[in-house]
Amino acid sequence: MRIAVPKERQAGETRVALTPDVVQRLTKQGHEIVVESGAGASAGAPDSAYTDAGARIAPDAASAQAGADLVVRVNPPSAAEIADVPQGALLTSFLFPATHADEVRAARERGIGWFAMDLVPRITRAQAMDALSSMSTVAGYRAALLAAWHLGRFFPMLMTAAGTIPPSRVVVCGVGVAGLQAIATCRRLGAIVEAYDVRAEAREQARSLGAESIEVDLGEAGEGSGGYARELSPDALRKLEAALAERVKKADAVITTALIPGRPAPRLVDAETVAAMRPGAVVVDLAAEAGGNVAGTVAGEVVNVGGVTLVGTLNLPATMALDASRMYARNIQDVVRHLTPAKPAEGEAAPAPVHIDLDDEITTGALAVYGGEVRHAPTREALGAAS
Ligand code: NAI
Repeated sequence: MRIAVPKERQAGETRVALTPDVVQRLTKQGHEIVVESGAGASAGAPDSAYTDAGARIAPDAASAQAGADLVVRVNPPSAAEIADVPQGALLTSFLFPATHADEVRAARERGIGWFAMDLVPRITRAQAMDALSSMSTVAGYRAALLAAWHLGRFFPMLMTAAGTIPPSRVVVCGVGVAGLQAIATCRRLGAIVEAYDVRAEAREQARSLGAESIEVDLGEAGEGSGGYARELSPDALRKLEAALAERVKKADAVITTALIPGRPAPRLVDAETVAAMRPGAVVVDLAAEAGGNVAGTVAGEVVNVGGVTLVGTLNLPATMALDASRMYARNIQDVVRHLTPAKPAEGEAAPAPVHIDLDDEITTGALAVYGGEVRHAPTREALGAAS
């Protein structure tokens, strides 16, 4: 199939959907790759690296995508950018449908398919395509480094001629993929880590990484469907805030990552607790984009509230463009493998370049738009209600 890689144009974005190593593998498999000039420039991949890997460079987004069967991107393209995707082609990128209704409409009207990386079901067979996990791994690692960077103290215990320095205490709230990586990174840096998640399985995983798990009796289960958390009742959330407050007040750094799919982020730390934190303490709130887990966090900013640094930096994977792009590109490579038709038997007609099997769980789960139809039910309902 012919695969196009346009340059990402979202403000602050540095990643690219395919890296030269993956381009080389795909061209060896017989795919034709066209990359927009400069697409990999901020991810350590100049145009020459792509041509060496067997790709062709196109001068702009429109010519890169002309004649493509598959367009691969990181971020959802704007409605104007969707106009460059050839009719009948398939687009693969993150979609985040709850906040991209106009783009979904534009894709439906243009008659293109949209395979959403964030809708790939989290089943074992699709693990190699799980870009949410790849990017959460980067974000969790980066969150730990940001906490260490903004904290005016060492993470590890140090015994020096100038005296013994005790280790820092870090509290991690929300122990999904990002939280686990944050724990592992803080532990490698020598901090003492305490962790909490509403899911018992996640707390067990935190313990296996050397964190002490915080146990709170909420009087209700935190497990939702599909391995995700459910939204707690206001009463349980109050109990949780009170229990976490005791740990947060004693912490040097707090990293929060708690999210519930399709809902605003749960508030875990209130303004009173932030005011009672140690002077110089740091909070990194990875849920900032979804409203934040911590009172006072400002999405996209680093603010100081009463001597406590609150980090609400967005899109942490874009701060680590090389490995974030490399991991995302591997995920895309597996999507391409999934969508590549089987070789026809002798005498059989050549199949369509992109194989769409609507009986396949991964394809149906991820295919948000196809054949002029919005197939992702919650998005279809939201669009129906809006029009
Ligand atoms: P996420 O980004 O949706 O949420 C982050 C964490 O916040 C979750 O662990 C969640 O339980 C927690 N959380 C929600 N409300 C909370 C609250 N009030 N207090 C404390 N914590 C709260 O989650 P992520 O990282 O996307 O992982 C979700 C699930 O998917 C996990 O069970 C993970 O193991 C599973 N998963 C499965 C994969 C597979 O089988 N292929 C791959 C990746 C993840």
